[in-house]
Amino acid sequence: MRLRLAALVLAAAALPACKSGAPRKHAGTPEDPFVVGMSQCNLGEPWRVQMNDDVKRAAEAHKNLRVVFKDAQNDSLTQRTQVEELVAQGIDLLIISPREAAPLTRPVAEAYDKGIPVIVLDRAVEGDKFTTFIGADNRKIGREAGKWIASALGGKGKVVELKGLQTSTPGQDRHAGFLEGIALGEHPDLKVVFEADMAWLEPNARREMESALATQPQIDLVYAHNDPGAHGAYLAARQSGRALKFVGIDALPHEGVEYVKQGLLDATFLYPTGGPEAIALTLEILGGKQAPKKIVLGTRIYTKENVARGGEEIK
Ligand code: FRU
Repeated sequence: MRLRLAALVLAAAALPACKSGAPRKHAGTPEDPFVVGMSQCNLGEPWRVQMNDDVKRAAEAHKNLRVVFKDAQNDSLTQRTQVEELVAQGIDLLIISPREAAPLTRPVAEAYDKGIPVIVLDRAVEGDKFTTFIGADNRKIGREAGKWIASALGGKGKVVELKGLQTSTPGQDRHAGFLEGIALGEHPDLKVVFEADMAWLEPNARREMESALATQPQIDLVYAHNDPGAHGAYLAARQSGRALKFVGIDALPHEGVEYVKQGLLDATFLYPTGGPEAIALTLEILGGKQAPKKIVLGTRIYTKENVARGGEEIK
């Protein structure tokens, strides 16, 4: 794992893992294990349940680690309070998957300034007061989705975009990347006819899609920033009796990949949780190693052509 992490490291920056010499609160032995705080922004979505599960499983293999989980139930203020509680409780390291960038920046910076190493997972915070960011390249995923969509539609047609929360960085990046990939300027007959922020949530996506269907006589494809969003749109379209294409992101084996197998979605892109990598890095940081500022995880595409053989890696 160490080698794999090293290979993933962006050349950019090997910054000190934490402020020098901050004493750990625990010895890191089976009798007195390191305590890791895991601040999860929401457990209402399958992808986040998977992330916590990945963290838990990876940590269980190490008797010198104990993880304390907090679920902010999709509320940024709650998440801020929970981070403060974890810090007050005396954790040795914080892992956080923040709901939104701006409101979580300060609590993360405060923990970091107290000498607590912080691993930020999947959604970013502002500035650089954290130890390491781990996540896939959402701009690239959006760009690949845009390219795939332009080609699947043969360069013409009408598209609906259902966006993830636009105050979270994956939502912003999946939108910006999509616009680069779909290259509307090069495809005069390709149009985005409806777009809405569904905040990552399936019921919102379904409702927004109902509005799109009510106002747009022609829709050929829906690009949703996650699989729950694509599934919500699929349900709305099925209800209205209209057949179109659907593209999502996440590709959990029992969710998006299964939807592709069943023919509900036309494509989904893997968005790894980063849970195992976060625990591997936790051990390195608490063992005194220097950590890279950023670790970028890879992605894959699943379509009906390749899903049976496990999708295809995107280089
Ligand atoms: C879950 C989720 C995933 C998405 C990720 C982006 O909350 O919406 O579906 O890929 O967050 O941060």
